Parts: sequence; structure tokens; C-alpha cells
Amino acid sequence: MNTNRLSNEMQSALIRQMTKEAHASQIFLSYGCWADINGYGGIANFLYRHSQEERNHMIKFMRYILDRGGEAKVEAIPAPPENPKNLTDCFNKVFQHEVDNTTSIYELVDLAFQEKDWATWNFMQWFVKEQIEEEKLALELIDKLKIAGGDQASDESLFTLDKALEEASDEVSLPQTATADNPS
Ligand SMILES: [Fe+2]
Ligand SMILES: [Fe+2]
Repeated sequence: MNTNRLSNEMQSALIRQMTKEAHASQIFLSYGCWADINGYGGIANFLYRHSQEERNHMIKFMRYILDRGGEAKVEAIPAPPENPKNLTDCFNKVFQHEVDNTTSIYELVDLAFQEKDWATWNFMQWFVKEQIEEEKLALELIDKLKIAGGDQASDESLFTLDKALEEASDEVSLPQTATADNPS
């Protein structure tokens, strides 16, 4: 009896997404090292935490495949790209990476819809929401750096930004989670 409730195509697509999440984790880890080497300990910490979050996403996909009776597979992760040129480049790349990942998430939602695989469709909604949060977080990084003066930022304002990100939460609140009782 075949107990796998995922189609072959869906299982392969979910495994590919597992690898993408692992790849994102490695990218943010390598950017974290770059920031650390350049003296931005707070930003490095922020990127390390974000790297960990991407790894958790990978595990979430793995768990789901297994829970549906499928065969999860750990595949090779491509090497991270070259180091960013500067902080603006770093934050722009983080943002772009999140936007690209959202496209992959939407492709999975689309496939689930086509297959009428409502379990996977429902599972994917968590990621749709998570991507709104992650894009918002990345946009905030770009905004904060702009306010600090961008590439022309003084050492002092970069120091303040670095300190702020050291303590910054990597959780952002979303409008759709706000209620009258809990507006934030
Ligand atoms: Fe992710
Ligand atoms: Fe992400």
C-alpha cells in the first residue's frame, strides 16, 4: 500500500524548497561572518539569528514531507555567493534573497492549488505569512541604514545602528495578526 500522500512532483518540489531554505541559511551565515570581520558585531548577530531561522524553515519542510508519509531528502547546498561590497549591498542582497524566496513559495502554493492538495496548500500558508514578515524585516534594514546615512554614514551613526540591531527582535508584527484587543 502506498502511504505517501504527496505526489511525486510535489515531493520533489518540497525537497527543492528544503534545499533553498538551507541555502538561505548558509548565505546569511556567510554575510554574518563578513559583518563580524568588518567590525559590525551587532549586525553579525542579527544575521546569525536569521540564518538559524532559515534552518528552522528547512526542518519545517522536512518534517512536513515525513508527516505526509513522504521521503525527505537532504541534498547538496550550493556555496554562498561572494561577500557583499558594503552594508548597503549586504542589506539589498538580503532583501532580494527574501523576494526571490517568496517567488519559490508562491510556486509551491500554485502547485498545491493545481493538484488540489489542500493539506499542502494549507501548510504553505504559514510560509506565505512568514515571507511577508521576512520581506518587511529586510526592508527595515534598508530603511535604518538609509536614515543612518547609507554609504556616507559616519562611524558614529553606524555604531548606533550596529548597537540597535544587536538588540533588535527578528520578529515583526503584521497587520493581519493585530486584533482590537492586541493592536500591535
Ligand atoms: Fe525561509
Ligand atoms: Fe527568509
